[in-house]
Amino acid sequence: MNSYNRNKITNNIHYFKRIDSTQELAKRILKKKSLKTPLTLVADEQTKGHGRHGRDFYSPPTTGLYFSIILPNWKKNLSKNELLTIDIAVVISKVLENFFPDKSFKLKWVNDIYLKGFKVAGIITDVYPNSNGSLNLIIGVGINLSTAQFPNYLSYKAIGINTKSTVDQNKLLIQIIKKIIKYYYSKKHFLNDYRKRSLILGKNITIQLGNKTIESIAQKIENNGYLTVKEKNGNLKTFSAGEIIRVRLNEH
Ligand code: BTN
Repeated sequence: MNSYNRNKITNNIHYFKRIDSTQELAKRILKKKSLKTPLTLVADEQTKGHGRHGRDFYSPPTTGLYFSIILPNWKKNLSKNELLTIDIAVVISKVLENFFPDKSFKLKWVNDIYLKGFKVAGIITDVYPNSNGSLNLIIGVGINLSTAQFPNYLSYKAIGINTKSTVDQNKLLIQIIKKIIKYYYSKKHFLNDYRKRSLILGKNITIQLGNKTIESIAQKIENNGYLTVKEKNGNLKTFSAGEIIRVRLNEH
């Protein structure tokens, strides 16, 4: 995997060889100025990459794609709020499917991208104000492209999409940015595409809610993106948030 070709990086994409976190840099930029058009920050390596639920996102040099897109004028898009994370996961999966046509990407509620039962990409979304108070959406994306080795705590959970990948990192990045920006300014949703790619529907799963864990079978992704599960006693429960910490892929 090569690092980015600086000649192909445009004004709207800022490239860093090594940075703490593109997501945190995005927030630092917004504290100082307000943007009128989208800006992407991309790094070859992150020293403090992070995900949702306060987790680290392992971001070693050049074998992954690590970037954050700042999308201004979030207020105008409030109607998107509920399905946003679901839609973004589909948008990115579709681009990955074009670049890796022999791979079958799956989505773990809400928006982790999986391959063969292992996580290959994560997405984080933050709504963040600029100095004048108007809101921006920051979408942070981390994709393990060719990463072959993960630290012990991740080695049973994460893989690279293809450790011998030769995909053009610039083209992949630019395609994803284009599709995300197009989605942001459209009124489209991708709920059915999301359901089709679900890793969890019909499977036994464990959901974590605070300190509590719930064992259940994933039944349905509702029209608002919420997840309905069936507990052991037959009760149905619907969740707007929560983390699925286990999916039993070989059962059902
Ligand atoms: C998750 O798995 O929960 C989300 C992971 C998001 C990682 C990306 S990498 C680029 C951007 N910078 C960060 O620190 N996080 C996001």
